[in-house]
Amino acid sequence: MTAQALVKDINKLVSLPEICTKLDQLMDSPHNSIQAMAKLICQDVNLSARLLKLANSSLYGFSGRVDSIPRAISIIGTTELMILIMATSTMMTFKEIPTQFFNMAGFWRHSVYCGVFAKRVAVLCNILHPDRLFIAGLLHDIGLLAICSKYPDMANQIFKKLGTTEAASNKRIYEVEQELFGYDHAEVGRELAIKWHLPDYLQDAIYYHHHLEEADKPVLDAAVIHIASEATHAIETGAIENFNEEINDMVWPLTGLNKETIDEIHDEALPELEEMLSILLPSAAQ
Ligand SMILES: [Fe+2]
Ligand SMILES: [Fe+2]
Repeated sequence: MTAQALVKDINKLVSLPEICTKLDQLMDSPHNSIQAMAKLICQDVNLSARLLKLANSSLYGFSGRVDSIPRAISIIGTTELMILIMATSTMMTFKEIPTQFFNMAGFWRHSVYCGVFAKRVAVLCNILHPDRLFIAGLLHDIGLLAICSKYPDMANQIFKKLGTTEAASNKRIYEVEQELFGYDHAEVGRELAIKWHLPDYLQDAIYYHHHLEEADKPVLDAAVIHIASEATHAIETGAIENFNEEINDMVWPLTGLNKETIDEIHDEALPELEEMLSILLPSAAQ
């Protein structure tokens, strides 16, 4: 099965929550306004509470001053808000899926930390609207989640092979996926992003985070996500001292950063991880 066929299948099984569809329709209509969006969002008490917490989190730097949904929307931005709602809803959609080899809370910790780290890297690179890199981090491995939740047999093969080869040859999960199926979770993730009409920058960040050398254009967002994902992986595997060795050298000229600058981000990013987890996915917070 190709990555496209796999995603086509998944799309039949996983539909986005109604609020996403309604917001999508509203954004395309002439009645699109912050007030109209706020009215729609306020119908969902849970979502409204999460958005207010998010707008007041250190990610946006308005601590305690955002007290209404219209203000939260104007701070987060309508497109970003839409994607954030989609991402958090996706977390809920996939949350309950039982897997014997896959730790869902661990997966979201990885994604949220990657997002927090990516935003901090984006600020260092002077990327415009660095908050959107948080969202890219949140969704960068969505293809893996899709495979694990809908194709347990494929996932079983991946983790079995990873278990036998990782220690011996230090193979990474995307390499094992490529060997087994001819494509990896980055490709599946991009297909999913296309299906869900996510913006081009997200499609590219998701795909190129494991395919930097294939890009025929500057892929700065993907370079940032690559750095953030490797940094997160290093924390998880306890290899934090030499995590730089796993980073593709192509990212340095793209971002204008160096290994030493990246080292300093961890100290600031860890407390923010717990804050974001408690807002987005309380069950995965410590
Ligand atoms: Fe990945
Ligand atoms: Fe990752």
